[in-house]
Amino acid sequence: MHNGIIENFLDLKKKLEAEGHIFASQTDSEVIPHLIEVGLSKGNDFEEAFRYMARQLKGSQAIVALSQSPERVLCGIRLGYAGGLLIANHKGETILGSALPAMVPLFEQDMSSSHEVVFLESEEMVTVTRSNTIYQNLDGHMLGKEPVSVAVSDLSSDKGNYSHFMLKEIMEQPDVVGATFKEREDFYNKTISLSDFQISDADVLNLTRVILVGCGTSLHAAQVGRNWIEEFAGIPASAESASEFRYNHLTVDSKTLVITIGQSGETADTIAAMEHALSKGARLITICNSEGSQATRIAESTLNMQAGLEIGVASTKTFLASLCTVLILAMYLGQIRGALNSLQMGVLIENLSTLPRILGDLLGDTGKYKDLAQIISGYDDLLFLGRGTHVPIAYEGALKLKEISYIHAEGYAAGEMKHGPIALIDSNMATLALAPKYQLYDKMLSNILEVKARDGMVAAILTEGDVELGSRVDVAAYIPPVPESLLPMVLTIPLQLVAYYVALAKGCDVDKPRNLAKSVTVE
Ligand code: AGP
Repeated sequence: MHNGIIENFLDLKKKLEAEGHIFASQTDSEVIPHLIEVGLSKGNDFEEAFRYMARQLKGSQAIVALSQSPERVLCGIRLGYAGGLLIANHKGETILGSALPAMVPLFEQDMSSSHEVVFLESEEMVTVTRSNTIYQNLDGHMLGKEPVSVAVSDLSSDKGNYSHFMLKEIMEQPDVVGATFKEREDFYNKTISLSDFQISDADVLNLTRVILVGCGTSLHAAQVGRNWIEEFAGIPASAESASEFRYNHLTVDSKTLVITIGQSGETADTIAAMEHALSKGARLITICNSEGSQATRIAESTLNMQAGLEIGVASTKTFLASLCTVLILAMYLGQIRGALNSLQMGVLIENLSTLPRILGDLLGDTGKYKDLAQIISGYDDLLFLGRGTHVPIAYEGALKLKEISYIHAEGYAAGEMKHGPIALIDSNMATLALAPKYQLYDKMLSNILEVKARDGMVAAILTEGDVELGSRVDVAAYIPPVPESLLPMVLTIPLQLVAYYVALAKGCDVDKPRNLAKSVTVE
């Protein structure tokens, strides 16, 4: 098994072919058995031949190979940080997997206990024989690997009464949000305490820059969080795509706090970005939903998302958990730096305490988004428009729709529409506008009218009671009036549900969309 990319495979293949090896495919993975064969031909046993193979490869990957000899030796190795590899023992069997969720069906056979797993780091290898399991490095030196205990209750993969994990996970969001705030907010003293944040107050006061880093949905959470760090903590902040972070020539030093966001903690681009941040001397924390994952092992501190296991490939509850965690963190930094006074802090904390209830009420009546979904499912192209902190929410809505329903959708800053995308608007183009009543409502209204004037179909998410705008768009769904700091979370719910219902209407595999993996462990 091979998970990753062999960067020098063309050179290796050329050399092997010159030596007489015949290849049956175009894949980079095929050089692996050929190299093991070369290792064996040098008189090595299978384990040493496997190590020989691993030493020839460039790039990040995980590899597992089984010998054909009667001893049936199984070897696995992790090279670099793409492609996780972990080892569990279950009823006398040794199981290798790429990430904890892969172990869930196995663990569920024994719900009463916790399970011990060993995570491999880069250039660490496991050899499993019928009698034992040993760990060595690439040079063959023995390693004493400590197992990590994983609570089975944290890994429940039961769909319950729901038809899809995605819907179940959307429905869990009020609880997830509550768990994120619990024990971090002091409602009496109006303060935030983050016991898992290990950077001293003095160092927080010295920070000159915050960079939030993530991929996909986690990048969108970083983009919203960037605004909150600036607004509530008063620190210059930017959000960067993890896959570009290393190449962007950003000024990163010991006064920079890099915050990575990730559901899996195993995304190769995010891990590479973390390594880069450390190499520049930055302070590094991660907001993560997978305890024991690579990201949590690299970061100085981990702020756990408290979302529980997410199975649906489309991230939902971990997006909301990321948003809430980064919001709490922004408030915490603002508290230390004196950027938020106690009155402002009190209002924010009170507002946050209402969020689980508001989300619960919204999710109590999911049917109201079905009409909107029905109409949208008839279009092939969609623009998601928002302004301010809602721009990344528009990006997220578009990502959710395209990944599970395969409809082309783009998120856009509504004010940017007139600089290009407006040329696309006609009766075949649908627009989903985020237009709740808040400070940028009037600007959004003008953008909606621009689309209507060009025959575009407009679906809108509006604030309850906005009859005026409701009558001017083609179809509307409503959210309750909420304070501005809660809008990114509240607006996300209709977008998730619309994506879900559109995918259902189109007969798509909601939980396992084509071409996608839950955790992208290759660069
Ligand atoms: C979102 O629905 C996708 N599954 C994808 O964009 C995901 O957010 C991205 O691959 C990052 O994953 P991570 O949060 O585990 O790092």
